[in-house]
Amino acid sequence: MQADIIRCSRLPGFHKMTIDEKINIVKSWANLSDDEVKLLKTFGNLDPKIAEAMVENVIGAMSYPLGIATNFRVNGKDYLVPMVLEEPSVIAAASNAAKMLREANDGNGIRAEASKQLMIGQIHLMKVPSPHSAAMEIINRKEELLDLANSTSQTLVKLGGGAKDIEVRIIETKRGVCLAVHLIIDVIDAMGANIVNTMTEAVAPYLERIAGGEARLRILSNYAIYRLAKAWVRVDPEHVGGREVAEKVADASAIAEADVFRAVTHNKGIMNGIIAVALATAQDHRAIEAGAHAYAARSGIYKPLSTWDIDAHGYLTGVLEVPLQVGTVGGAIKTHPIAQIALKILGVKTARELAEIMAAVGLAQNFAALKALVTTGIQLGHMKLHAKNIAIAAGARGELIDIIAEEMIKEGRISFSKAVELLKKYLKQ
Ligand code: MEV
Repeated sequence: MQADIIRCSRLPGFHKMTIDEKINIVKSWANLSDDEVKLLKTFGNLDPKIAEAMVENVIGAMSYPLGIATNFRVNGKDYLVPMVLEEPSVIAAASNAAKMLREANDGNGIRAEASKQLMIGQIHLMKVPSPHSAAMEIINRKEELLDLANSTSQTLVKLGGGAKDIEVRIIETKRGVCLAVHLIIDVIDAMGANIVNTMTEAVAPYLERIAGGEARLRILSNYAIYRLAKAWVRVDPEHVGGREVAEKVADASAIAEADVFRAVTHNKGIMNGIIAVALATAQDHRAIEAGAHAYAARSGIYKPLSTWDIDAHGYLTGVLEVPLQVGTVGGAIKTHPIAQIALKILGVKTARELAEIMAAVGLAQNFAALKALVTTGIQLGHMKLHAKNIAIAAGARGELIDIIAEEMIKEGRISFSKAVELLKKYLKQ
């Protein structure tokens, strides 16, 4: 009975407690050891005060590896690309692909181009008595609405951004007709969620008056179809493993176009690269994922975000197009010290350039995966790194990590029990 009371998750005032007080509660809830608590309190490169300003109910910070993908050349410029993720092989694969693709596009490397940073803010109006005439009226009052939206962000307007256009859609819902009003907003170098949401909330009451309905939702759409980034390569097959490899990569791409089960995995490989850069630079990666997958399904059928082909001159061509809602200013990008360092390593100032690099990384990552899949398979490289992880999980430290990993690979037995067995053997020596 007592135990049940202690384990009640209803914790009034938890959010007002200090970090130490919160940790104490969680400690007794989960029976954490003193060592575990000590680890939780090691915030590493994230100051506890910053962590608490970022999210609620903080009891620690979790570190992921930050690696650097080398060899990237995008639009003729060289980059070192910071990537954060938990999966082995991804950074090595990106670096390897970037090395091969440096020769693409007459030595300019991967080409990439991002559109203007246009976000969509949505206001959904219900109970509009005459939706068609309301839609006309809203379009007629476009300038007033844009002025009202822009009055909320003078700085953005001064920089040349702000609300630029209005679209109105009439949609049928199971609870009646809905007027979906879109504000098209140039957010320049911000991810834009705050700016967009402020603008949608500012214009909603005015829209209610014009349309005679009631605003239900006033929020950005993460289906950022006007904020696209494109990356492409045209490369001599000799630079990427030969004609046969290039043909097989094109086959893999054709399979992804024809098979939705494969398309999802194909796109997952692309997102391995894009999200790793997003995490390193503290972007809203959930927004990027949501937008990218919706874009992949824009025809009504989920498709690969990239395609690979052989052109009439026998060159391998690859093209990727993806919506990327990323920023270089604002939010966690500014507050997280590592995100600032990551942007400095990348050397980018604008959201546009960041989006271009991310699209290029996505394309390179995709090429690396397809090339590995159609040749050696991905397990060989993957297992090498996986073996190291298993050795660490088994307790190996220092030089024993490599020794045990290599022995497991040599014996063709990469497992936790094997790692423990080898660790015991080496510790005895
Ligand atoms: C693994 O994280 C990503 C791949 O599955 C991507 C792909 O299959 O194209 C290798």
